[in-house]
Amino acid sequence: MKLLQLTDIHLTKPGDTIAGRDPNENFRKALRHAITHHPDAEAIFITGDLSDWGDKDDYLRLKAEIAECPLPIHLCIGNHDERDVFLAVFPEGADENGFAQTVVPLTEGTAILLDTWGPDTHAGFYCSKRQDWLDRELSNATAPVFLFMHHNPVPIGIAPMDKIMLRDADGFGKVVSRHAAKIRHIFHGHCHLPLAGSLHGVPFSAPRGTNHAGWPDFANEGNLAGSDLPESYAVVLAEETSTMIHMIEYGYEGTVRQEGSPDYADWDRLTMVR
Ligand SMILES: [Fe+2]
Ligand SMILES: [Fe+2]
Repeated sequence: MKLLQLTDIHLTKPGDTIAGRDPNENFRKALRHAITHHPDAEAIFITGDLSDWGDKDDYLRLKAEIAECPLPIHLCIGNHDERDVFLAVFPEGADENGFAQTVVPLTEGTAILLDTWGPDTHAGFYCSKRQDWLDRELSNATAPVFLFMHHNPVPIGIAPMDKIMLRDADGFGKVVSRHAAKIRHIFHGHCHLPLAGSLHGVPFSAPRGTNHAGWPDFANEGNLAGSDLPESYAVVLAEETSTMIHMIEYGYEGTVRQEGSPDYADWDRLTMVR
């Protein structure tokens, strides 16, 4: 089973740029790349910061893109989104408590998309109401479960980013711990950095994002750091006993060379040109 993760698309007013890049064009470019190279993917998951300022027009344009896309697209919201505005355009994205959370059956297991949004802050939240919902959904879900969320549930060790990580990480971690055997992987975004690790033994990862890129500046106590690294999304290959995740830097404009054959017999030190 192949899944795709896009994150931090930050759609904004057409023509506006973020960090010198056009998020609308970069999102379309990511979709075109995904559809061309991974038409066999089962679904695309976008893990939040769908709109840069939570504008209704951004969600309407996103809805139009989704309608055009041959692959199903499922959405999480992030700190840059506005839950009410998002749900006005995507009412099917609400759970019974009014959070933007959905459960998506997959051919192998279940995807659960979480709402880590909170008002007037860039930090993430996962209150007891959401924890109870997730606890119940995890009990009912067919394994393996793939969790998708915006905020990182584990500190990344860079102070400005950790100020805006998931605040209810302990409570969230307890739910994950209770169902660890059933959860295959947690996919998040928010940091605009390629990250991987584990929480209570459950692996997690994040690709860089489809527009502006971060930089892991461990010495910077004050501000978030940016860079000009390529735009990217993730390709997830989930098999019965394994998961493999690639970060595809589709914004890379350099050369891709055809290099040596993988066959050992073809590797001759005297004749090989490298
Ligand atoms: Fe973001
Ligand atoms: Fe974010």
